[in-house]
Amino acid sequence: MYQFIKYIVLFLAVSLSLISCKQNQGNKIKVGFSQAMTTDDWRKQMNSSIKIEASLRPEVDLTIKDAHNNVNRQIEDIERFISNKVDVIIVSPIQSKPLTAVVEKSIKAGIPVLVVDRKIEGENYTAYLGADNIEIGRIGARYIISHSKGSGKIVEITGAAGSSPAYERTLGFSQIINENKRFTIVKTIQGDWEKESVKAPMKAVLQQNPDIEYVFAHNDRMALSAWETAKTLGLENKIKFIGVDALNSVNGGIELVKSGVLDGTILYPTGGNEALKLALKIYNKESVSKNNILNTIVIDKNNAEIIENQMDKVDQQQLVIESQQGAIKVQEKEYASQNNLVRLLSFFLVIILSLTVYSIYSTISISRKKKQLERINQTVIDQNSEIQEMAAIASKSNEAKLSFFTGLSHEFKTPITLIMSYVESLIENDKIKGTALIDEVKLIHKNSNRLLRLINQLLDFRKIEEQKFTLRASNIKIYDFTNEVMANFRGEAIRRNIDFQLISKNKNLELFMDNGLMDKVYFNLLSNAFKFTPDNGKITISIVESSDNSVKIHFKDSGIGIPEEEQSNVFNPFFRASNNNKNSSGIGLHLSKEFVLLHKGSIELKSKQGSEFVITLWKGKEHLQPSEIVQKVENQSTIPSLITDNLDLETELKDLNSISDSEKHSLLIIEDNIDLVAFLKAKLSNEYIVNISDGSDAVEKALEIIPDIIICDINLVDKDGYEITKELKKDLRSSHIPIIILTAQSNKESVLKGLQSGVDQYLTKPFSLSILKQSILSLLFNREKLRYYYTNNIYRIEPESKFGNQEQTFITKMNNIIMSNVENPKFSVEELADKLGVSRVQLYRKVKAIIGINISDHINNVKLEKAAELLKSNDMNISEIAYSLGFSTPNYFSTAFKNKFGVSPKEYKTLN
Ligand code: FRU
Repeated sequence: MYQFIKYIVLFLAVSLSLISCKQNQGNKIKVGFSQAMTTDDWRKQMNSSIKIEASLRPEVDLTIKDAHNNVNRQIEDIERFISNKVDVIIVSPIQSKPLTAVVEKSIKAGIPVLVVDRKIEGENYTAYLGADNIEIGRIGARYIISHSKGSGKIVEITGAAGSSPAYERTLGFSQIINENKRFTIVKTIQGDWEKESVKAPMKAVLQQNPDIEYVFAHNDRMALSAWETAKTLGLENKIKFIGVDALNSVNGGIELVKSGVLDGTILYPTGGNEALKLALKIYNKESVSKNNILNTIVIDKNNAEIIENQMDKVDQQQLVIESQQGAIKVQEKEYASQNNLVRLLSFFLVIILSLTVYSIYSTISISRKKKQLERINQTVIDQNSEIQEMAAIASKSNEAKLSFFTGLSHEFKTPITLIMSYVESLIENDKIKGTALIDEVKLIHKNSNRLLRLINQLLDFRKIEEQKFTLRASNIKIYDFTNEVMANFRGEAIRRNIDFQLISKNKNLELFMDNGLMDKVYFNLLSNAFKFTPDNGKITISIVESSDNSVKIHFKDSGIGIPEEEQSNVFNPFFRASNNNKNSSGIGLHLSKEFVLLHKGSIELKSKQGSEFVITLWKGKEHLQPSEIVQKVENQSTIPSLITDNLDLETELKDLNSISDSEKHSLLIIEDNIDLVAFLKAKLSNEYIVNISDGSDAVEKALEIIPDIIICDINLVDKDGYEITKELKKDLRSSHIPIIILTAQSNKESVLKGLQSGVDQYLTKPFSLSILKQSILSLLFNREKLRYYYTNNIYRIEPESKFGNQEQTFITKMNNIIMSNVENPKFSVEELADKLGVSRVQLYRKVKAIIGINISDHINNVKLEKAAELLKSNDMNISEIAYSLGFSTPNYFSTAFKNKFGVSPKEYKTLN
């Protein structure tokens, strides 16, 4: 592509240069002509003839420089010709001597020099062209000698001193004159080729020598000036004037001869055309003579006419040539402009063609590139979708793995709970208590605890990754909290003689913290501190309040510390310090940091001597979202922490042993883990009648037994715990039964789901047996309180009352049925059960469970309440009332009435 553009640009450049260069000036023959001056007609004619000659030769590039009769200027002109590297220089030197050097310089520079008209000194020039000036002088002298009839006195007027024609003409003239004794050169006037130089000296000569016969002037201009001077003295007709040049022009020599001013003039040809011809010969390296002499002739009244005619013809021819040249020039101009137009059009054509070619090329290459891009695009799309598919597969598989891993971790919890519960029992077992075994059992407990902690950490890690943690912060006294956590480590501190201290100035300082999460942070930092601090070392927790409303909790140990270059990584997941040889999952500190961040706090490590972790938390609760703040957690049992589980609780519960079966509450355990079932059965049988369901018949069994309380797992084969709870709570027959969910799923969503389905208590595995037992007792106690309320407010229970729930609705409905049948002696429990849509046994158990008495007694109670009401109204006597309410005898009525109200119906009537 670039190559192509390069070619196009080159092509255009060449086209442009072809158009702009009319003709290559560089190939022309450069001829430089240094003219002495152009003030007189002779010089003008010389220039004109050289120009005409040049115009006939298109290959010649002629430059004429006029020195204005200034020698220095002429030298400069020639210097410039040399530096411009002209091909040939033609010089008509003003003076001989001053111009010799520059001519020699040109020769040295390799530029040939043709000297015309006047000469330089010496021979160091290429060639000379001009008439023979010595001969001109001689011709002049001979003419005078042959025509003289008078005194023979002659005045010579010379050209400028220093110019060769003046010297040579004098030389030739005097040679001949001096040979003839009759002739005397009376005076040689030193002229300068121009008229003015003649006048004064001429006048003086004539005044002294009025008998002068001939004046020989070196040119016609000076001869005319002499004639004019003679005329002023009235001598013009007595004296004969001879000039040089013989120009065919106004006041030129020929005209002066014809008019009788001059007696004769000697032709001195300008040689302009010959000079150019000779210059070209020199340029073409043709052999030329050193001295090229132009012919000369005397013109007097005999031949002036003829010569003038000839010259006129030549002049006319020159004019024709000049006009032809002019015409040619016009045509050339036209040709040039047309040529330019053609070139311009060609140029544009070339541009259009180039652009067309380029646009075709571009279109093709663009379409090619487009196709290529489309292909690449398609490949990218394919690859992208492939990557997406792979990513989806990978994410699915990853998700599956993680779910499996999470599920498995959950699964671990039940067996660990069992192990720990059994171990707890063993620790409390009197047979083991005093023996050496107790230490080993405690070791099992400790390691089980550790295992459980690790599993919890793994689950927390997953939860943090899924951003499922929500802060549940409550106002906590940080000093007490710290002390409580520290209590778990005091034993180890004592055993290893570690100085374990808590320093705080303000024991009442309160912070909003999530108990459970901060507990894990503390436990982690302290575990690490104990892990890496040698025996007899020191571990200190200091709580320091800062002026900026923050609190810093320092965990400082005298352990091995963490290498400085690794310190920035300690909070990264799976980090393990290079100096740590102990087992470590590497997620504890990561979780700690995440938990602290959830509190909008920060955690940093300083490790110089030992390690020092500093947690910064903010006072108050402004930095937390309202949704992150909960009321003070009074009962930790929903999400129990093993750390805070106190084994001592167990002993108190032990006293609940040996209750007779009839007093025992019935319990239904819905759980498919046989080991857990066995454990719970073993632990609860003493206090409760334990029934078991593996979940496949959970609802059926519950409805059959109508237990006092249900303990139910969530992950069951047939229906899950939520569904079972929902069904039982919806069913009138079982809606009153408290349900405890016992599960490994401890996340907020699961707890919420459980509570939404109607569970009364949500316990997570690993659970503390003591907490489970306490929960059962609490729920039964609550049930008892409700029962008390129902029993004592049996007529006040209204569907809209604040206790409005399934049970209330049931009791209200039941009471209404009883009331409307209160005077029906045949109204039976079966009929009531039928109307309520439950079986007789279910009705019996439900009523017993809700209000604590059997249904027949309840019906009787209702009747007796009604009787009391009737007694108050005074309308009926006691027997009437007894019969109307379906009592078999008035006596039985009276006994029953007295049992309930403590007074006989009679007494009741009188009292009211
Ligand atoms: C012209 C002229 C002529 C003379 C010649 C000599 O400038 O003065 O009249 O013949 O120069 O170089």
